[in-house]
Amino acid sequence: MADIIAAKDRVRQLTAELERHNRLYYIEAQPEISDHEYDRLLRELGDLEAEFPELLSPNSPTQRVGGAPIPGFTQIAHPERMMSLDNSYSEEEVVEWYNRQKKVMGGDFETIIEPKVDGVAVAIRYEDGALKYAATRGDGRTGDDITQNVRTIRSLPLNLPADAPQTFEVRGEIFMPNDGFAKMNAERLEAGEAPFVNPRNATAGSLKQLDPKVAAQRPLDIICHGFGQLEGFALATQDEFRDLLKKAGLRGSDARWRAGNSDEILAAIRELDVRRHDLPYETDGAVVKVFSIAAQKQLGSTSKAPRWAMAFKFQAEQAQTKVLSIEIQIGRTGALTPVANLEPVFVSGSTVARATLHNEEEIRRKDIRVGDCVIIEKAGEIIPAVVEVKKELRTGDEVEFVMPTECPSCGTPVVRDPVQVAVRCPNYQCTEQVKRRLRHYAQRGAMDIQGLGDVMVDLIVDAGLAIDVADLYDLKFEDLIKLERQGQRSVEKLLDGIAASKQQPLWRMIFGFGILHVGSSSAQSLVGHFSSIDAIRAASLEDLEAVDDIGTIVAKSITDYFGNEQNIAMIERLRDAGLPFEAAPPEPTAGGGSAKFADTTWVITGTLSESREGIADTIRALGGKVTGSVSKNTTYLLAGEKAGSKMTKAEKLGVRVLSEEEFRTMLAEDDA
Ligand code: IVH
Repeated sequence: MADIIAAKDRVRQLTAELERHNRLYYIEAQPEISDHEYDRLLRELGDLEAEFPELLSPNSPTQRVGGAPIPGFTQIAHPERMMSLDNSYSEEEVVEWYNRQKKVMGGDFETIIEPKVDGVAVAIRYEDGALKYAATRGDGRTGDDITQNVRTIRSLPLNLPADAPQTFEVRGEIFMPNDGFAKMNAERLEAGEAPFVNPRNATAGSLKQLDPKVAAQRPLDIICHGFGQLEGFALATQDEFRDLLKKAGLRGSDARWRAGNSDEILAAIRELDVRRHDLPYETDGAVVKVFSIAAQKQLGSTSKAPRWAMAFKFQAEQAQTKVLSIEIQIGRTGALTPVANLEPVFVSGSTVARATLHNEEEIRRKDIRVGDCVIIEKAGEIIPAVVEVKKELRTGDEVEFVMPTECPSCGTPVVRDPVQVAVRCPNYQCTEQVKRRLRHYAQRGAMDIQGLGDVMVDLIVDAGLAIDVADLYDLKFEDLIKLERQGQRSVEKLLDGIAASKQQPLWRMIFGFGILHVGSSSAQSLVGHFSSIDAIRAASLEDLEAVDDIGTIVAKSITDYFGNEQNIAMIERLRDAGLPFEAAPPEPTAGGGSAKFADTTWVITGTLSESREGIADTIRALGGKVTGSVSKNTTYLLAGEKAGSKMTKAEKLGVRVLSEEEFRTMLAEDDA
């Protein structure tokens, strides 16, 4: 068949042409043809493939939009480990790093400095010029096969030119450019969908899609910064690597500096910190790398990270905006917290419209007024805070904030907490407080009651069906079915959820009480120490202070709580309802040995691939204790991305810091 031979030739020609134009467009920003022309070539290829399906390759430029959904991600073993980088947070640390390597190298050495792209790490393997797979880092040894999703990234070639290395495993960062992110979020809001928190989360979420058609809709892009396995090609320097990327049509770093000593490195980092705001994507630091590949090999790696590279993390980002109003939130313990409504502003990867002002004293100290221009700061996931008021921009129309003397929810005169700076509503039945208490009790980290979301709590409280958590166990089908928009199914689901909560461990209920200062880790310490509610209730201040993790203020708050008749009455009703009042006996561990994390104390910080609460549950299930702050008793600090002050403290105290990758490795390790 002469036809198919000719068609095969044309398909090969068109594929190469389209890849070349892709490269010219995305990598070199020098397109030779119009979009229209490009589409015409693409259509011609598509037509040929339709006519001769045997010529259709999964790497065809027509196959970007994604094939069929997959049932789940398969695993891919990385031929060479995918490491992470050591982080530094100060210029001194960078200099120390440089000097350490200088000793080994016997003198000053060349480096390059690049932006640290805040995205998701990926390894992409090409064999004989064709894309073979794309995989996430995973635990560094194996990752998820995300080829179908990565294939949809337009700037990534599916086929390399003929003179490309025979085997090329390129590594890089997949990210979502800021403008694409903003546009996508606007569309999601319009469609009534929840917006993504920041571009990094949106990227991770997109890559985890099982349906590549969804990923294809997301504005993903990639920047390549390193390589794993490389065969049939020799690289001597970072410049040669950059040239290889260019030749292959892979996008490398946009900005890059050379530095031959530590002063030059610092100068480059400072310049990058300014320039990075002009980059169309989020960056969270600078990466310093040794220039010579031979020198990199000489320096080698630790178990976690290469010695030849170092990440410098930039300080939290700040932005200027305006205080539109100050509103009062009432917490579950009745504390009145002022919150600033801000003119929305984009900072550290997300739009910020609110900032906590903590309390009246803080507002007074910083002299924050409605109408003020302020500088806000956001570090990682932390709720943004006002760090400075631009007093020089005042017009005279700014309005000072006055703390209300009556609770905005129930009108009860507020009281000033003598110990804390807080102002509280003393009315136990205050609607807003009741709602907050129930929400706190029902939340995932506490009793995890299915069917009892915020809206349901509001309905129940507004209907006067509950003023404390014990009332939940008296709720009747007949009452609930009368609530607005409640069908039989949702009411049954709620009643089942409430009944199921009786099986939760004691510490969750104690945490769920919402005792001031008693978080989930203190609740666990209490149960670990006293084993029953009655023992905790009978404990004196001294007894309580003897518990790890419980200081004077927390101990006082606990005795106050159990000294309150209303609380005791509620607790007795919970006992009658059949809730757990004793600690469950410790779960036996496999093989009868001790639990993997027995006698270890953990602190979790930064952004991780799953919620901190979820990870804490895993640690607890293995016998570990999870606390909120780093102390000399901490065994491990599990630090995710954007770990901040806890990291510094851990380093100061010599507490072992684990990356998520190391943690996952530990989990997977056989400790028989
Ligand atoms: S070089 C051994 N260069 O940041 C890893 N990494 O926090 C060498 N990253 O694992 C990586 N931008 O996923 C390098 N210009 C850049 C980077 C970069 C972002 C990521 C990368 C790395 C992580 C470490």
